[in-house]
Amino acid sequence: MERVKANFKASLELALPGQEILLERPKGADMGDFAFPCFRAAKALGKNPAQIAQELAASLQIEGAEILATGPYLNLKLHPQVRARLLLEAVLGPVPFGSAPAHAETVLVEYSSPNIAKLFTIGHLRSTMIGHTLAQVNRYLGCQVQRLNHLGDWGTQFGTLLAAYKRWAEQQNPRLDQDFEWSEETAEKHRTPLFRLFQLYVRFHQEEESQPEMRDEARSWFKRLEGGDAEARRLWTWFRQVSLAEFQRIYDRLGVAFDAMDGEAFYEDKLNSAIEQMRNAGILEEGEGGAQIVRLEDMGIQTPSIMLKADGTSIYATRDLAAALYRQKTYGFDRCLYVVGSDQVLHFQQLFAVLAKLDPWFKGRLTHTPFGMIKLPEGKMSTRKGNVVFLEDVLDEAVTRVLAVIEEKNPELPHKEAVAEMLGMGAVVFFDAMNDRVKPITFTWDRVIALDGDTGPYVQYAHARILSVLRKAGATWVDKARPTATPDAAIVPYSCEAIPPSLLGLEDPAAQTLLFELAGLPDAIRSVQRENMATALARQLVAIAKAFSGFYTNCPILWAENSPEVRDSRLLLCVATARALRQGLFLMGIKAPEEMWWENWWQT
Ligand code: ARG
Repeated sequence: MERVKANFKASLELALPGQEILLERPKGADMGDFAFPCFRAAKALGKNPAQIAQELAASLQIEGAEILATGPYLNLKLHPQVRARLLLEAVLGPVPFGSAPAHAETVLVEYSSPNIAKLFTIGHLRSTMIGHTLAQVNRYLGCQVQRLNHLGDWGTQFGTLLAAYKRWAEQQNPRLDQDFEWSEETAEKHRTPLFRLFQLYVRFHQEEESQPEMRDEARSWFKRLEGGDAEARRLWTWFRQVSLAEFQRIYDRLGVAFDAMDGEAFYEDKLNSAIEQMRNAGILEEGEGGAQIVRLEDMGIQTPSIMLKADGTSIYATRDLAAALYRQKTYGFDRCLYVVGSDQVLHFQQLFAVLAKLDPWFKGRLTHTPFGMIKLPEGKMSTRKGNVVFLEDVLDEAVTRVLAVIEEKNPELPHKEAVAEMLGMGAVVFFDAMNDRVKPITFTWDRVIALDGDTGPYVQYAHARILSVLRKAGATWVDKARPTATPDAAIVPYSCEAIPPSLLGLEDPAAQTLLFELAGLPDAIRSVQRENMATALARQLVAIAKAFSGFYTNCPILWAENSPEVRDSRLLLCVATARALRQGLFLMGIKAPEEMWWENWWQT
């Protein structure tokens, strides 16, 4: 496929010397496989685009393809046989479909980064799964990827927590893991130490509204923590452990992992040298009230970046600055992606500007990939106020809903719970990816856990259905669709398949449409890397699943016109589709079960 594309491009370059040749993907299989929009060339040559397309169509020839002018576009349309062969070779061949060979570019992806002593909410899912997908895709495309978790384990909120713990918890419940007088509906479910901590935090903020003197209490505890006070440190370490254990459980459930978990506290002993570096560069100034600031007006940012508060203490931004310098030293990266909510746009603009002033090396290497916040129908979620939706509740509810469907439609299904977990996860994670990364999402249970329509379970269903066809065809067919080893890194390894010399039975338009949609997967994967969002991949997987359903309806597979050749080519197309879907889902962190439910279709 890539060869044909390169050929087409080279011929166009010959025919249009000096013009930049950018090929697009046509809307559908009937329009062809590659399109060349003639607008720019027409402008340069002073002709009209349709005329150029006509002239090129008359003069160019590519083996195995037709060259057609469609209005202002020049389309290359492969012969059905050629298209089938090229695609099957690409998907079933030795090189993972749409991947790129390893190269030296180092990409850091920083994601998830939750705050210690707060629970994972549905909001954290976005950073976690978008980040996971970006890491997977960049790896698939050959980059050296480091997955970083910038844990929020430092800052004034720990003063709040220490104060709250000392006030209410220490006496009654020094370990925080037994029953506690708090009783809320959710408390019943989340009897974890972390949940207790979270409740303490919420309670402190509620009571401090009417007793502002409590704020001093929190402040003084943070001072003790910063000053290295033994008790404060001991409790902080413990809060951190309790939180990490809980986060790890969720990461395991989501199948997400990190190469480094250096949180904000990790940079505490690196702050002085960062400040020193800024001072030496002459960019640190005294601002209003005695704070140390960096002015950024010359970079188009009106708000200066505060680096040290008047009392000399560091803030969130100081630690981010030290983190970037540390990463420069440690990884010498080419790109660093910060997958963090859109409420921190200004923070990252300032951070990147300060870094660029400090060392031009940083210019162009740092990207904030903001995502829209998840809102509740009644408004913004707020951990402080306690009106949040916990990620685990959402996952549990999704699994429960899926189990109900399984009980109704396929109660005999083996490993029901495991399948329900995969589908429930698939629903929630895929829903997130289908949304434009930047737009805010309003959370409602039915939207987030939809099973029908353009959803994860729909794609998973297509995959399971293909596996069912392959099971009917015999064990060797199933094996062809199965990975040869446990998937590592970003790649699901399969052994390559020999493509028979005659590929009959794939000329049908429905089969051609499926081939066309499969061909779109590599572009979709590259677009995830380019746009730093998973939407294109999710959409392409839905398109493939839909095209499979059309193929399945229109082209008999197992009883194909009594022709073993037709049957085998169609089965190979099934194998290719299953592999592509599985790989695509895998890049998004979603598993593909081999069995699901369906309406007894095999008996009819
Ligand atoms: N812990 C922060 C939060 O939950 C996110 C950290 C983002 N990363 C960073 N380098 N500042 O809001």
